[in-house]
Amino acid sequence: MPLQYLFERNREWSERMHAEDPEFFKKLSLLQSPEYLWIGCSDSRVPANQITGLLPGEVFVHRNVANLVVHSDLNCLSVLQYAVDVLRVKHILIVGHYGCGGVRAVYDNLRLGLIDNWLRHIQNLKQKHWPLLSAMPDAPSGINRLCELNVIEQVYNVANTTILAEAWERGQPLAVHGWIYGLDNGLVHDLHVSIRSYAEVQGIYERALADLTQAPPAGHGAR
Ligand code: CO
Repeated sequence: MPLQYLFERNREWSERMHAEDPEFFKKLSLLQSPEYLWIGCSDSRVPANQITGLLPGEVFVHRNVANLVVHSDLNCLSVLQYAVDVLRVKHILIVGHYGCGGVRAVYDNLRLGLIDNWLRHIQNLKQKHWPLLSAMPDAPSGINRLCELNVIEQVYNVANTTILAEAWERGQPLAVHGWIYGLDNGLVHDLHVSIRSYAEVQGIYERALADLTQAPPAGHGAR
């Protein structure tokens, strides 16, 4: 596909948006006030705005391979701090997806290169939860369960940052949620790990993990 095609598509989109609301781009150029921060996977099949039907200006986005929140990742932490302290988002959405290639690479012990170091965080999770994962009926179910565990772990990581601790301390309304997206049906599922205060963090995290040990395996579609 020639790149010129992308410019043509862009021009059409801009014209369409302008026709719907002549003030749309002008308003956005002056201010962004999104209510949501989306932390999701870089996977091309999981685009934040399209999945949620949100317009430009409505969701602040950070994406990396396997939607990880690592305590020493200055990039992710900067996005988080700006979203919380400056934009004052109300909801932080950690959005994983079933059939995640990064999670599958870890599950299958693939060697992909430099990225293996990034995915090491998921390797640790795999080891920690191996009793639960090995009890799954087959590998695709195990991979999907690890995708779910990964989301819960990243919710826990976000909730344990100094950024969230300070926001909650000053009484700022702010919730962290863990969601997972199905590539095969385009639907987002809530993993019921929403945290709204520092006091809730440990209890909700542990309950979410306990609930997962009882949950039936997720569907096998679209990997
Ligand atoms: Co992925």
